[in-house]
This record gives sequence, C-alpha cells and structure tokens, in this order.
Amino acid sequence: MKKYFINGGKKLQGSIKVNSAKNSVLPIIAACILNKDITVIKNAPMLDDVIVICDVLRSLGADISVDREQKVIKIDTRELFQCEPPSEMIRKMRASFLIMGPMIARFGGFKISLPGGCNIGTRPIDLHLKGFKALGAEVNPQFGVVEARAEKLKGNRVYLDFPSVGATENIMMAAVLADGETVIENAAEEPEIEDLANFLRTMGAKIIGAGTGTIVIEGVKKLKGVEYTPMFDRIEAGTFMVAAAITRSKIKLENVNEKHIKSMTAKLAEMGIGITSGEDYIIVEASEELKPIDIKTMPYPGFPTDMQAQIMALLTTVTGTSIITETIFENRFMHVNELTRMGANIKIDGRNAIIEGIESLSGCEVKATDLRAGAALILAGLVAEGSTTIVDIYHIQRGYEEIEKKLQGVGADINIIDV
Ligand code: UD1
Repeated sequence: MKKYFINGGKKLQGSIKVNSAKNSVLPIIAACILNKDITVIKNAPMLDDVIVICDVLRSLGADISVDREQKVIKIDTRELFQCEPPSEMIRKMRASFLIMGPMIARFGGFKISLPGGCNIGTRPIDLHLKGFKALGAEVNPQFGVVEARAEKLKGNRVYLDFPSVGATENIMMAAVLADGETVIENAAEEPEIEDLANFLRTMGAKIIGAGTGTIVIEGVKKLKGVEYTPMFDRIEAGTFMVAAAITRSKIKLENVNEKHIKSMTAKLAEMGIGITSGEDYIIVEASEELKPIDIKTMPYPGFPTDMQAQIMALLTTVTGTSIITETIFENRFMHVNELTRMGANIKIDGRNAIIEGIESLSGCEVKATDLRAGAALILAGLVAEGSTTIVDIYHIQRGYEEIEKKLQGVGADINIIDV
C-alpha cells in the first residue's frame, strides 16, 4: 500500500509550475465525442481521473493515445458506437457524467450508471436531466441507471435552480449540435466553463456568454477536431499557495493568471500574506504572524469549495478564531476528524467549522477521505512536528500529478513509501 511520508517543519523556497486544470480537461475530453474527428490536447495533466475519462471514451470506441512524457493526449472519435459504458468505470468518478451531453448530441441517446466520485455529499444530477428534457429529450432515471433519448435536440431556454458546474457544461455540450438557440440562465460562471466554451468554439461551435450567468448557444451542424491547451489548474495553484502560507515561506507559482484566483488571493491577503503577481505568475510570501479569517464557500467568483479543506489546514495554525461555512456540499468536513488527530482544535456546528488556531500540529497517521481532504493533510504534514503518514493516497493522485515531486522541488521532505 502506497502512503505519503512527510517530515514536517521545512521552509519552502523556489518555484512550481502549475498544471493544466483537471476540471477543464475532463469536460474537454468528453466534448471530443461531439466532433467525429481527431483532437490533440496539449499540456494535459497526467492524472488518474484523466485516465478514467479516456477509458470511458475508449469503451465507446475512441482511439486514444496518451504520451505521458510530452503530456499530449490524442483522441480519435471518428468510429464511435453507441453503447452503455461499463458501470464500474462510470462509478469510479463523478465527472464521467460529462459524457451524457455529448452522447445525446451525437447518438440521440445514452444509457449510463449513475456516477460515483468523491464522497462529499449526495450530488444528484437532476439539473443535468432537466436541461436535457428542456432540449426535447425523454429522460428515464431508474435503479441506478439513467437513460435518455431524443430524435433531434431542439434549442430552448433552461433555467438552472442552482449554478451547477457539471449541469452547465453538459447542457452546453448537448446544445452545440441542437437545432436553433439554447439559453442557459443562472449558469455556473467558473473559468473552466469558459475554457470548455473556448474549446467548443475552436471546434466550430457558436457560444457567447460562457463565464457569465447567461450562456447563449446557437446549434451548428458539425464540429471539427483541433489542437488545444487547457487553462491552468486554479485549485492546484491554490493548494501550493497554502503550502507557502502554512510553512510561512515564499514560493513562486508559474503558469497562473491571478484574475481567476482573486477569491483566494484576497483571503490570503486578509490574513497578512504577501501576494505579488505578473502576467503568468504569482509570488506568495507569508510571515510568522498571520490573522484569523472567516470564509464562506460560494459558486465562482466566490471562494471555491475545492479549497475549503486546504484553507482549513492553514487556519488551524493561525492564532485566534476562524469560521468556515461550507454552502456547496453538505458533507464536506471529513478532513476535520483527521486534522483533529493531528491536534487541531475544530468544532463543527451544522455547515460551520469553528477553528481555534493552535501553536503546532503533531504528525501522526491520517487518512485521505477524498481528493481535497487529502491535499489538506499533506499541507498539515508540511508544518506538523515530527512525521505524518497519509494512507489512501489514491484519492490525492486522482487530482494532483506527482504532488510529492513538486513539493520536493521547493524543499519539502515528502516521499511516497510502499509498505
Ligand atoms: C464541479 C467540480 C468539483 C467542484 C464542484 C463545485 C468538475 C469535474 N468538478 O463538480 O471539483 O467541487 O464543481 O465547484 O468540474 N447539484 C444538484 N443537482 C444537480 C447538480 C448539482 O443539486 O443536478 C448540487 C450538488 O449536489 C452540489 C452543488 O449542486 O451541492 C454543486 O455541484 P456542481 O456545481 O454540479 O458540481 P460538479 O459539477 O459535480
């Protein structure tokens, strides 16, 4: 069994190049179903989740080659056939649901198992299905499987009750080949949605407004294969910003555009952390004395739920009381138990976590319960007294490519051990 083994207390210095975004590349790979052509994705992150979505497309007949060294994925979707992807594949990762929109657009239907993924709440897909229905599909979810059919999708207005990232992406992908105009209202505004729209536009789709609450899509007859480099990973960048902050160090992050991470830099600045940025980099410098803060997770441009666990790890080390309110997922405090094992003083009251900063965390064996919870434990381990061992690291490897090597590169004492 592989574990991370961290000796805490090392100051960090140097620079880290941030990857392309997992949450961009997953819908982009799914969107290749739409083009009956060859697509080349450059600077692709080599993550377990990326391999899973490639396998899902392979199960539909896609010919995919992955060059790990060059970080290039070549996807040929000319010869796809409509079938039900194996349920064990779909259940590995919630983002597998992103094939629903492209499948209904290309084949006029799909049948897939209800998806799995991080264990952070019930995460229904009702908004996705509502969108497909509005475009004229007949949708039938039952016994853990969802089936949909439509002769030809027709553009329509879709109002999302909540700005769901996945539902916005799925409906946008379904609508690009539909007849006429689709308007998605109360759409999610995450930069990864803008990135997916850019990719679809490069292929020939007509989309305006992605990245705002109203997206207008004019259906086209056909899309073509292209070469594309996805945007940087905001959450990987945020995780390394916290690595600098929690170790009271200075590091530079490259391949980052501050415009997309303002909610994070604003909160770090409020704590007294120095932030300097240029066109494609950001420097984070933390002194010993930081101030406690309150944070509420919100849809973009608010503070991302995917950074909640990591910022909590940081706040456990900051003298005073901080409060984190999680508004996006109902069960996203699983890291609290593990941080508490390391000595953190955190109380949960409904959707609030009340954190009293302590002098120092203590290393021990802890368990990654989901992707971002696992990242929070690495961060805690970097500053804890003694050594920290993290088990179930496959959760972390789903979304961080060789995080141990990137951290070693800036001076952290972290290794993977196989026991
Ligand atoms: C995406 C991200 C994930 C991030 C999340 C919120 C990807 C691959 N994953 O996940 O990392 O944590 O956005 O920023 O991009 N909901 C419904 N009905 C639906 C869909 C969602 O009630 O049909 C609810 C969910 O249960 C959740 C909230 O909406 O409480 C947000 O979910 P959503 O924005 O859809 O997240 P994902 O697309 O799954």
